Amino acid sequence: MAETLFTGISELVTPATSVQRGAAMRNLSRLNDAAMLVRDGVITWVGTRRQAPAAASVHDLGDVAVVPGLVDPHTHAVWAGDRLADFEARISGVPYEEILAQGGGIRSTMRATAASSVQVLVELARPRLAALRASGATTVEVKSGYGLDFEAELRMLQAVRVLQAEFDLMPTLLIHVPPQDNRAAYVQGVCGDLIPQVAAEHLAAAVDVFCEKEAFSVEETRQILAAAQAHGLRVKVHADQFHAIGGTELACQLGALSVDHLEASGPAQIGALAASDTVATILPGVTLHLGLPAAPGRDLIDSGAAVAVGTDLNPGSSPVFSTQLALALAVRLCGLTPPEALCACTVNAAHALGLRDRGALAPGQRADFLALHSPDWRDLAYTLGASPVRDVWRAGIQA
Ligand code: NIG
Ligand code: FE
Repeated sequence: MAETLFTGISELVTPATSVQRGAAMRNLSRLNDAAMLVRDGVITWVGTRRQAPAAASVHDLGDVAVVPGLVDPHTHAVWAGDRLADFEARISGVPYEEILAQGGGIRSTMRATAASSVQVLVELARPRLAALRASGATTVEVKSGYGLDFEAELRMLQAVRVLQAEFDLMPTLLIHVPPQDNRAAYVQGVCGDLIPQVAAEHLAAAVDVFCEKEAFSVEETRQILAAAQAHGLRVKVHADQFHAIGGTELACQLGALSVDHLEASGPAQIGALAASDTVATILPGVTLHLGLPAAPGRDLIDSGAAVAVGTDLNPGSSPVFSTQLALALAVRLCGLTPPEALCACTVNAAHALGLRDRGALAPGQRADFLALHSPDWRDLAYTLGASPVRDVWRAGIQA
């Protein structure tokens, strides 16, 4: 039995252990001169240093702030090729959706990814995941979605499975963009072949669909998500990125874990999320990189929704390799307060992945935590361009 008492915690700051919505997202617990007892990777006690129980070993963190490990609930960290030419075209004025409609954008990443072996995909994704972890992410969701065909989709998920030996990853099957012809047959194949195989091999915990004018319609999304649920998989939707065509409302009806993007959401979509248990996941890196409107994070919280924040790390819309930066951007671009952003990047992000055992520092939770450089946790939301995270602990072990 490995037992360690962590001391030298100037302040231990955490949200509660269950998903928080609306104004409750601001309620953090803040304990000064704290200590935390960890046994076999799980927190067994949290309190002040003076009240700490005796322990087999003591680790002094050096008088710094401690917060829960961040959970990044939305990434596309497995891809091949690059989107540097797209980036140049976009900054000279060509819209993202136009590049996609002309067969570039996501489709160009699909061609490069489909041509790569599992081993190559693993080698390409490893440093990206290492960067996310160094930025504070102890759990990361990774989507497929750059496969031109089902075999390539499966290779992406196999690459995630290989990387699970090194990182805590939650794999999601993403049905991203339809083929340019025979889309009805494609959707049928997704429902009748791909989803059953992914479920049988436990290659993904959830299925996500890009519901958008240039991708899948609401009706196609409904069919795909129904097949996912019939095979025991949770569902998620990329919705309202450019146009609010009904993906958010559908996801809320179906009890989706989360709806992600929401840059084009209006009062109807905000109301649907506020009235549901579905988490609203916002991705401020996309706003920064594509120069598009920000998701209405402030309005979502003020309406009572549960908001999470992710990087959306991908080569086309969000080359953001830091979950801490996503947190800091949610404050600047989406109007979250620092406490709300911490909640959004920890317990609410865990909830968006269906995880209940992490995201807060309390007995029974996994000992996933960050020791900052600073004695004041607010540096986490303040710092841009350097890492305020000194060390990252996963299940009580320094990563
Ligand atoms: O979440 N919007 C759709 N999918 C990704 C972008 C993928 C890409 O551009 O390669 C996103 O933004
Ligand atoms: Fe995405």
